[in-house]
Amino acid sequence: MPLPPGCTQPMAVQTARWMARPTTFLRECHDRFGDDFSVNMAIFGKAVFVSDPENIKAVFTASPEALGPGTGNAMLMPLLGRHSLILLDRQPHRRERRLLTPPFHGERMRAYAQVIHESTQTTCAAWPLGQAMNLTPELQNISLDVILSAVFGVADLGRRAAARRPVVALLEGLNPLTLYVPFLQQSFGPWAKTMAERRAVHALVDEEIHDRRERGLDGRSDILSLMMAARYEDGAEMSDEALRDEMMTMLIAGHETSTTSLSWAVWELMDNPDAAERLSAELDALGGDAGPEALERLPYLDAVCRETLRLHPVLPLVSRITRAELPLRGFTVPANVGVFPCIWLAHRREEVFPEPERFRPERFLERTYSPFEWLPFGGGARRCIGMAFALYEMKLVLGALFRRFHFKKADDKTPQTRRKHITIAPSGGVRAVLAARGGPHV
Ligand code: HEM
Repeated sequence: MPLPPGCTQPMAVQTARWMARPTTFLRECHDRFGDDFSVNMAIFGKAVFVSDPENIKAVFTASPEALGPGTGNAMLMPLLGRHSLILLDRQPHRRERRLLTPPFHGERMRAYAQVIHESTQTTCAAWPLGQAMNLTPELQNISLDVILSAVFGVADLGRRAAARRPVVALLEGLNPLTLYVPFLQQSFGPWAKTMAERRAVHALVDEEIHDRRERGLDGRSDILSLMMAARYEDGAEMSDEALRDEMMTMLIAGHETSTTSLSWAVWELMDNPDAAERLSAELDALGGDAGPEALERLPYLDAVCRETLRLHPVLPLVSRITRAELPLRGFTVPANVGVFPCIWLAHRREEVFPEPERFRPERFLERTYSPFEWLPFGGGARRCIGMAFALYEMKLVLGALFRRFHFKKADDKTPQTRRKHITIAPSGGVRAVLAARGGPHV
């Protein structure tokens, strides 16, 4: 069977539409062509977009020998470095994942609860009450602070604040078009600025690696130290270059994603006062001395996080490339074609999520969804390595904020979903007016 139908507009037009309004583009294609469709895009070439859970399953369960990381991942190389997990393939990818997975799970992950607690409380202590504020940059301070302390273990707040600057400058200054169009990667103009900012972040990472090489790793539980102590099956350690590229990956993949998800969660709770009330009641019932493990287990808080990630996935799709023919329901994708499981469309399937545009956390209490229906962290062998960590952080931060404050919309403007650097995010951030709730500050 031939590939599913799709846009016939010139490649440049399709690419421009995708770049300008990714979610509108997906919705329009879906309305015209159905669950699966083809698109011709600059850099990616011919690509097949799938949102039928059966086809998503076929992609996520295909052998890594049959599917490689998509061109979308390769685009990130100048930013992250060639050793980044996001870019590795086959055996080197498997080997690196085995090494990097433990710090993001179980007890090791829970060791970051204190850092998440401190960063949230320190940041929100300075928030004004009764006046409009943009919460998104503040939530970014929390997420970045959390990731900096988790990966570098820097205890000193001042040093962490100084370390935030180059990372924010790198991301804020990044024009996503320069990643998509290699021709724009010149030694002058915006790309030269991005590269200078990347050098500043490299310097920060190199300093931390050097510090550990000098003083040793004893008593350190941060992610960089765990990576430096870890050994591949053959006993080899990670090279400094690989350490640096993975640190860049964690810093970039691990904070804008959390910032965006937290921003949308607060927005949805302000827009749905019944849900906010139910969450506050659940938090109040916890009692004053409840710790992070109690917050982590709260069912409604968990459902709020999952529903936020359903309605507002930070990546609209994930990207793979076929190495051999890939049979899917209704058609076969030839070798060397991009295949994109569309998170954004899969999360809006009426038969899976009735009233899909409605924010209704209860749906996650009523049933469980398969990993091919709810997939904000992608799936298969390349599923987000930070998934458990991100959900944990989201619950702890959101729980702490809703214990401490009542949030009201600052105006009637609904934030629009727009491309922001690598992710899609609420345009202009989320604005709110805060009132104290007087609850215990977990
Ligand atoms: C709400 C927060 C987050 C969301 C929604 C998210 C989402 C994603 C998605 C969709 C992918 C692509 C998966 C695929 O291709 O199937 C991904 C990959 C990845 N994420 Fe996350 N992420 C989040 C937080 C984090 C955090 C906190 C970290 C680490 C500190 C992280 C590190 C990574 C890495 C290293 C990969 C590449 C995995 C691989 O290729 O094997 N992410 N993430």
